Amino acid sequence: YRNLRVALLGAGSVGSQVARLLLEQGDEFASRVGARLELVGIAVRDVDAPRDVDLPRELFTTDATSLILGADIVVELMGGIEPARGYVLEALNSGADVITANKALLATHGPELFEAAEQVGAQLYYEAAVAGAIPIIRPLRDSLAGDTVSRILGIVNGTTNFILDRMDATGETLADALATATHRGYAEADPTADIGGYDAAQKAAILASLAFHTTVPLEQVYREGITAITREQVESAREAGSVIKLLAICERLTDPETGEEGVSARVYPALISREHPLAAVRGAHNAVFVQAEAAGDLMFYGAGAGGVETASAVLGDVVSAARRHVVGGPGVAESTHAGLPVLDIGRVVTRY
Ligand code: NDP
Ligand code: HSE
Repeated sequence: YRNLRVALLGAGSVGSQVARLLLEQGDEFASRVGARLELVGIAVRDVDAPRDVDLPRELFTTDATSLILGADIVVELMGGIEPARGYVLEALNSGADVITANKALLATHGPELFEAAEQVGAQLYYEAAVAGAIPIIRPLRDSLAGDTVSRILGIVNGTTNFILDRMDATGETLADALATATHRGYAEADPTADIGGYDAAQKAAILASLAFHTTVPLEQVYREGITAITREQVESAREAGSVIKLLAICERLTDPETGEEGVSARVYPALISREHPLAAVRGAHNAVFVQAEAAGDLMFYGAGAGGVETASAVLGDVVSAARRHVVGGPGVAESTHAGLPVLDIGRVVTRY
């Protein structure tokens, strides 16, 4: 097999699981991709910090820039805007494909990053940025590209769903449930992003932009979080046969007066009947309903947060990027004939 160099930025809840799976399942990935995915290093803030996963010490570095240069694929799992934005740009400008789960970055600097990728013919993958393990980016971008999406309604933040569920099921306080969500690796580094609705708003901006083939700026997403939700409100909702969920709604709208077409994206906690399918979304799971003109109603459901669950979506992107290198790139010969490299891509494309 030829070798593809993978650089990982971040080894927290998600990054450590991505590293573990890359190391443990190297042979399996090689046979799926037709190339060996070599994890060349992991950039972190503190190389000696204790980690949930036991990973080889020699892979760790604080020098992200050196790691990026020379990598074929860069996986950004640091979170936040800077220095993540700078590293993603460095990676794209060096011609590497980039995988990120960083919705904060995409919702604020998406156009700049996609343009940088296009300039050099690199790809930016972000399946894990919305709804954790659930495939929702590819379906919207590819599978539904020939349809007209009219509405997206969903629960897109695992931490707040986990908190509201615990408040409802066990009477726990918001603060206690948030502490558990943080301990389980669901919450953002600054959990204000979750409970304040910022994370869900970033995801709504990404989903609306994809679904409606436009750019929905984050500032135009209406946002309310769950910080003000009390146990009394949760109790009162239960007595009324309802449950409180943090919803994200993205719609095409037509101005009734001018006939002008537009898009609305909003995030807020709302009461829904216990009979509604979204009421059955428990713990850190997410669900996204998509209404499309031809396809009708579609529902996507599964783990919305969590290190290993999100690693699944990240690794799906790594495999896609790697296959692109193998099928589309010049390749590295596995054998030679009369001194010339023999390029065998037929073996790869039959593996799908
Ligand atoms: P963590 O906070 O658990 O981990 C962040 C990692 O990045 C740490 O290893 C940290 O290093 C490293 N890091 C942070 N800042 C820097 C820096 N300036 N330089 C070098 N390394 C840095 O984050 P998560 O794994 O939870 O999340 C990663 C990304 O994935 C985020 O964008 C998040 O929004 C997204 N995401 C997370 C999900 C989840 O369930 N957790 C689900 C879907 C997406 P060190 O360890 O030394 O501190
Ligand atoms: N903090 C996020 C959540 C992680 O709880 O949904 C997944 O994007």
